[in-house]
This record gives sequence, C-alpha cells and structure tokens, in this order.
Amino acid sequence: MDRKIRSPQPAARNSFFAEEVTSAFKGDIIGREIIFHETITSTNDRAIETGRLRHDPDGIVVVADSQTDGRGRFGRRWESPPGVNLYFTVLLRPPLKPREVSLVTLAAGAAAASAVREFTGLKAEIKWPNDIFVKNKKAGGVLVEMKTGRDIINLLAVGIGINVNMPPEALAEDIRPFITSLKTESGKLIDRIGLFAGILDKLEQSYKILLNGDKRALINEWLRLNFTIGNRIIVKDRNNVISGAAEGINDNGELIIRLYSGQVETVRAGDVTILKS
Ligand code: BTN
Repeated sequence: MDRKIRSPQPAARNSFFAEEVTSAFKGDIIGREIIFHETITSTNDRAIETGRLRHDPDGIVVVADSQTDGRGRFGRRWESPPGVNLYFTVLLRPPLKPREVSLVTLAAGAAAASAVREFTGLKAEIKWPNDIFVKNKKAGGVLVEMKTGRDIINLLAVGIGINVNMPPEALAEDIRPFITSLKTESGKLIDRIGLFAGILDKLEQSYKILLNGDKRALINEWLRLNFTIGNRIIVKDRNNVISGAAEGINDNGELIIRLYSGQVETVRAGDVTILKS
C-alpha cells in the first residue's frame, strides 16, 4: 500500500499547496483521488456533484482552503476562512442500509478525534454524534449527507471541518466562549496537511472495520473518545426535546437514552446538551 503520512512536526508549517494536498494520503479506498480548490461554496456540495458525474466515486476527497457557503448540521453556517482550517468531504458508497448511516457518522467523528489526539497531543473528545471538542469548546464537526435508493445508500458525502490554526479574533465575540481551534488550545501552529492525512488514514481504518461487519469494534472506538455516554443530557432535534441519561449506542449507531420515567428511547440525530451533575 502506498501510504504517505507525515509524522507530527513540532515546528509545523501552514502551507496548503495543491500539489501537497492532493498527494497527502493514498489509501486502498479513501484518497484514490483528492480534488483541491482554493475557494469553493461547500466541499459537500462539490463532492455530491462529483459523485453524480463519476461512475465510481467511492473514496474521492474534495478539499478546499476556504468555503463561501460552508454548512454545519441543521443548516447552520460553518465559518470557513482561508489559510487556517481544514474543510473536506469524502465520498463513500457503503453497502449499508440508510438506517445504518449513523455508523459512518460515528466512524468519521472517531477518526477526526483520534487523529487530532495523535497529531497534536490535545485530548480531543466527541460529543454525540460527532462534534469534536477540545477543553470543553467545539473545534470541529462532521456533516454527513446521503443520497438513497430503495433501502440502499447510493452516495454519502462525509464532510469534516476542523478549526486548526484559526485565531479567536476570526470569530464573532459572542461565540468565542464556545468555539476554539487546535492552535488556540495547544499554543502551537499545526501542520494542516499532516493532520488532513492523519484523519483520512484513521477514516480508512474505521471504514474497513465497518466493511468487515465489525460494528461493535467501531462503536467501542467511538466510546473510547466520547464524553456523552454516562451523562444526563438534553437532546433537541427539529421537532422534539428529550432529556434523560445517555446510556449507550445501539448497533445502528443511534444514541440510547433512558428517560426519567425509566422508558428507553433511541435517537438518530439531534443536538446534545450535557447537563452538569
Ligand atoms: C457541524 O458540526 O455542524 C458540522 C460541520 C461540518 C463542516 C464541514 S466543512 C467541510 C464540509 N463542507 C461543508 O459545507 N460542511 C462540512
């Protein structure tokens, strides 16, 4: 296998040249082709367009130095200034049912958190389903968008955004208490291309585990990195608010919540608030 991953560099660079980005990682599946743009509306949008045009889009990665219309979950805006962060989307066609898509979401969150840990030494943690937190502030997120056929997944766009070297001043003052970057928390400039390659490598490993059918191994890796399970939480989705104890993750990657009535519910999507005990 022709893998090219840089080792963590203490005195890292912040360059993001097309030639380096597009050759940062070549896995068996992920990174067969890496498409680079200086500026783009959203890597998820471009990846989905690419997926429609290509016969075999599995593993293609679309990456940009900045996005003009970066999206977060629930249609929120994702701040995507140039020269500082990572914004990329991996196209996948997993042989899974649409109901099992949360497993890929968990795989992406786990890949991002564990690569951040290894590459920066920061204790990145996941808030369900896939918010990447460092020292109680959000430093990254995953947006998975899906095209389905009759009970099959035709295409998944797995979008990952990590605030790498963004200074706090780049953010509006009212969100600074909640959002951070890896440089802000570590005090060090982080090599974006090295981290990008590290996340793709971890994602390829997790995705292969999923393809081999070992869902529990994948869920256990996510559990190792998360700080949601075991806490009292509130989950909001578009129509519902549920509160209770976060008990675990089922085989579809859904969150299991024990309500205060004792009843158990599972949730596939939502925004979690962890309550202080
Ligand atoms: C979230 O936490 O709400 C998810 C954020 C996902 C942002 C990434 S950046 C790359 C890709 N392109 C987008 O427009 N969004 C995702």
